[in-house]
Amino acid sequence: MGFLVFFGCNTDKKSKEVKDKGMPQRGELSWESQIFLGNRLFSEKTCITCHDVNKKKIGPSIKEILSVYKEKNGDMVAFLKGEAKPIVDTTASQVALMQANIEGFLKDISDEELKLIATCVQLIDELGSHD
Ligand code: HEC
Repeated sequence: MGFLVFFGCNTDKKSKEVKDKGMPQRGELSWESQIFLGNRLFSEKTCITCHDVNKKKIGPSIKEILSVYKEKNGDMVAFLKGEAKPIVDTTASQVALMQANIEGFLKDISDEELKLIATCVQLIDELGSHD
């Protein structure tokens, strides 16, 4: 079964069938609302200033993060909660930049919101890769 989604987590609005493989369970929010909120959080919480989809900006690209998380079976929510060590870029100065976010504002974000962000980041791979 697939969902038709009309917005990606990046800024372009795209429609594409999303297969439900590896997708998190749907909670009370509809799937569309989850993507929409995750997308909004990703820009509202300024992730987007340091993370581009395809290119390295200040932080690694979403693509790079995803491929490492897939390969190493990483837990992004745990990382964003400060419970898991970084696995993508372990250069001390880079880690410090991201840790500042975790200690600064991510600790004020609810688990629900962190999950939405992580879900959204994972979807970028499926929605944002076709130009
Ligand atoms: C000030 C710039 C900056 C902002 C803002 C920022 N990041 Fe990062 N991020 C980085 C840098 C630099 C790294 C590389 C260091 C690392 O891998 O921990 C990184 C790494 C990551 C990683 C990979 C962690 C790992 O396992 O190595 C994830 C996931 C991530 N960021 C998600 C986010 C999310 C979600 C937000 C918004 C809530 C965000 N980032 C905001 C700079 C930033």
